[in-house]
Amino acid sequence: MNRVRTERTLNLPIRTGRLVLREFVQSDFDAIHAYSSDPRVTKYLFFGPRDRDSTADYLEGLLASQEELPRTRFELAVEETLSGRVVGACDLSLIERNVVDLGYMLAMAEWGKGYATEIALALVDAAFFDLRADRIISTVDVNNRASIRVLEKIGMRWEAVFRKHRRAKNRWWDCHLFVLPREVWELANTRTD
Ligand SMILES: CC(C)(COP(=O)(O)OP(=O)(O)OC[C@H]1O[C@@H](n2cnc3c(N)ncnc32)[C@H](O)[C@@H]1OP(=O)(O)O)[C@@H](O)C(=O)NCCC(=O)NCCS
Repeated sequence: MNRVRTERTLNLPIRTGRLVLREFVQSDFDAIHAYSSDPRVTKYLFFGPRDRDSTADYLEGLLASQEELPRTRFELAVEETLSGRVVGACDLSLIERNVVDLGYMLAMAEWGKGYATEIALALVDAAFFDLRADRIISTVDVNNRASIRVLEKIGMRWEAVFRKHRRAKNRWWDCHLFVLPREVWELANTRTD
């Protein structure tokens, strides 16, 4: 009798050309705090900049999420393969059945090297292969040009703008919704021309 696969989990670590995407561990605290306490990094994120207590709470919640069953949140450390340094974080979250939300952030010193594009491409493959997503989405502040460009470069399609999508950090956020349907990704991956 064929067994029906019901579990959805990522095959970790994920290795890209220059990076390893892996589970966070407690000893990553200093690296996480370094980038998440930087207001330039958190400018377009709903949280932060974090103080040490807030980083500790975040890491505690994140480590607990690794034990959840079924697991819906995969927030991963981005480690540079050559140096072994943690340079940022990325995540895939199952927000509804077969719909996965994708995100990423990097320490400012790492911007402009193509890392986010490399991460996002690997996460897209993992979401469709391992999590068997039908649709990947990402929401991004309308002024976050670098992130919008990353989403465009990996083939995500603009679908909508949400005015006053969320209230955080004392302001309303207008956000773009970008989407990658499974059919589009499959077509792009099977074309031979
Ligand atoms: C968004 C972020 C992850 C991008 O990381 P990155 O590794 O620098 O991204 P990449 O190098 O892969 O690609 C960035 C692209 O944006 C472009 N870009 C950067 N700043 C830009 C700007 N102000 N206006 C327009 N394009 C910009 C780059 O030129 C590049 O495009 P190109 O390859 O066509 O030249 C990084 O800036 C970051 O961590 N920001 C803070 C956290 C954040 O905002 N996360 C996203 C939340 S939705």
